[in-house]
Amino acid sequence: MKFVVLNGSPKGDESVTMQYIHYIKKKHPEHEYNIINVAQQIKKIEKDEERFNNIILQVKEADGVIWGFPLYVMLVCSQYKRFIELIFERNAEAAFENKYTIVLSTSIHFYDHTAQNYMQSISDDLSMKYVGNYPADSWDLLWPKRRARWLLFAEEFINHIENNYPTSRHYTPLNPRDFEYKLGKRLDDSEKIDTSGKKILVLSDETGENTNLGKMIKRFKDSFSSEIEVINLYDVDIKGGCISCLQCGYDHQCSYIGKDGFIDFWESKAMTSDILVFAGVIKDRYLSARWKMVQDRAFYMTHTPSLIGKQMGYIVSGPLSQIPNLAEMFQAHIELQGSNFVDIITDEFGTSEEIDALLHDFARRLVNFSNVDYFKPLTFLGEGGQKIWRDDVYGRDRFVFLADHEYYEKHGYYDTFPQNDERAKKMNEKLIPLMRIDKIRKKTNMKQEFLRPFLRVIEDPNK
Ligand SMILES: Cc1cc2nc3c(=O)[nH]c(=O)nc-3n(C[C@H](O)[C@H](O)[C@H](O)COP(=O)(O)O)c2cc1C
Repeated sequence: MKFVVLNGSPKGDESVTMQYIHYIKKKHPEHEYNIINVAQQIKKIEKDEERFNNIILQVKEADGVIWGFPLYVMLVCSQYKRFIELIFERNAEAAFENKYTIVLSTSIHFYDHTAQNYMQSISDDLSMKYVGNYPADSWDLLWPKRRARWLLFAEEFINHIENNYPTSRHYTPLNPRDFEYKLGKRLDDSEKIDTSGKKILVLSDETGENTNLGKMIKRFKDSFSSEIEVINLYDVDIKGGCISCLQCGYDHQCSYIGKDGFIDFWESKAMTSDILVFAGVIKDRYLSARWKMVQDRAFYMTHTPSLIGKQMGYIVSGPLSQIPNLAEMFQAHIELQGSNFVDIITDEFGTSEEIDALLHDFARRLVNFSNVDYFKPLTFLGEGGQKIWRDDVYGRDRFVFLADHEYYEKHGYYDTFPQNDERAKKMNEKLIPLMRIDKIRKKTNMKQEFLRPFLRVIEDPNK
């Protein structure tokens, strides 16, 4: 059997993910494995159509396609995202149709589910026969039991193809609404929102002024009584995506320093804003590869927040409600930055007037929340994600991410380990021996015990 492996690691042959493929190759040498370094060679693939067509030909001739990639900021890396965009832009979908496929990712399990969901939905969009996914931890291959489990998964894939077993679909095709957003009348000065001296920045990858997003940005901008800044990401000098050299792990210094303008842009514009709005058009089931490139390049701050303390949100054109996975990433990203997730305004629902009103109110809330310093509690997305980072940086990946470790020590991240929670420790020392006594268990009304401290707050006129 012939397998094509579309390698989504910018490291190419030096990829950890590809070691999983080499392992299968070692165990099943009777098959052919053709690894194509699509992420690493994306610039050449994009420029040279023949090179792209050759890859598509190999996909066409394969019995199975393996999407294999490292997690990059909750998704695939921008280079791989661009390759996926090219498949659709260059009408190469037919080569993928009815091909058996699996999705292999390696990561520290930080938002690997969102990347996996994305790739599964792309496989469905390409009408592939999706057998399943394998969200490996980067180091799984080093452990015998975990190697065995990967082998079982890969063998099931082979088995599936050999026996032509059925596969199920999970995603219906996207159905964007056909709607032209029309700009309403210009606002009177009296209706405009005072920026209160806040630095407001919109980052967008929209190049057209007359698209829905172009007009929505204009409307949003007009909501304010003074000029706000809108930066187009195509105007930022970005030479390329993150190449995973991990130089940043030691000191948060990107190896692109002096080679392009991204870091200067990020630090002087994005990081210094009080209010930051990301704007983009949905492209397949994410925003554009350009947007992804920005997210990946901002990873030089690795597992520390670079957009801390801002009011943030999104203006989006496209069928976001049909992609809850994407909405989850939007919210998670903001929560993990230590910023306040205010809202997402889209062109999906309502009339132009209703969208105008939403944009205006979005502007109002952003400024108001910034003025009163309102930060809503994190959800599981932010809380859970931070804990995965904290444990990883404290433990096995500390030697790689020394700068994170120092930051975490300085900012009390490790104080949130449960074993460092002095209050909980004292409470447990006192209460656990009591709760082991049968008589006390029977007498205790846990509901009332839980309420006791709350009642003190409710009943105290000074609180
Ligand atoms: C820019 C960048 C972003 C990353 N983002 C994530 C992430 O969101 N979640 C995660 O679990 N791991 C993340 N990682 C870790 C890699 O996915 C992991 O180390 C992977 O095994 C590398 O595989 P490769 O050697 O095949 O490239 C990231 C690494 C880099 C360099």
